[in-house]
Amino acid sequence: MKNLANLIKLSECPRLTEKYKGIAALPLDLPRFELDSADNFWRIWNEEKARVDRQHIDRGAVGKSPDKVSKEYTQWDGIAMYEDKEVLGSAAWVTKDSPAMAESQPAYLKSIFDNLPFVRIRSVRLWSSNCVIPGHYDGNMPASLDGKLRFPTEIRIMLDDQNPKETFWLAPVSQYKPHTTVPDEAKMHVRLPPDTNTFVWNNEDCIHGADYDPAYKKILVVIKGWVDIDRLETLLDKSIAKYPDYVVKF
Ligand SMILES: [Fe+2]
Repeated sequence: MKNLANLIKLSECPRLTEKYKGIAALPLDLPRFELDSADNFWRIWNEEKARVDRQHIDRGAVGKSPDKVSKEYTQWDGIAMYEDKEVLGSAAWVTKDSPAMAESQPAYLKSIFDNLPFVRIRSVRLWSSNCVIPGHYDGNMPASLDGKLRFPTEIRIMLDDQNPKETFWLAPVSQYKPHTTVPDEAKMHVRLPPDTNTFVWNNEDCIHGADYDPAYKKILVVIKGWVDIDRLETLLDKSIAKYPDYVVKF
């Protein structure tokens, strides 16, 4: 696990914390990720999606009342397109692996590996929340990385979103603690421009959560791994320059 922490160039982090101070989230200047076959995607999704199970209690549970911190508690359905089996045993959540889904979307998966700024990708998971997601931090692997990456590093792709308005939101942790009520007017929602479906947020200075309406489907691609700090910095700079009106500030 120690080696995993070394995948991140931590010496650069204080500089980047200062450089991107006040930025909660932004869309990334990457071409839209498009499925190889939407028909095959939906067929496999509908046949194979399963509840996402908790394997370990990590920082995501910080602030929850202790009686609600349980491995039985889950809030997503999903499937995994890729898992790094070497480290899967230490992941907080386990998602049903679907080789059929990976095989049905080869270019989609390849473009994730080719275009996203990671040194090593741990998992590519498709998650659909089945309830309101309260504000929380995501945990890092290993937990010794928690608190270190205080700039936008958490990357998601919006695979499908039928909601009439944005649901994914952030709030500064200086004002709102995890698993407490965040009033709607304080939620800073991430908006995506039409030419990208990827975004990134600061998972240390902000908590994140999601509104939920069972009438509307949404699937996010959760890419977990260890970011390539140099490639990420270049991409953040390009993205801020391209989408100034979409940068979420706090
Ligand atoms: Fe999260």
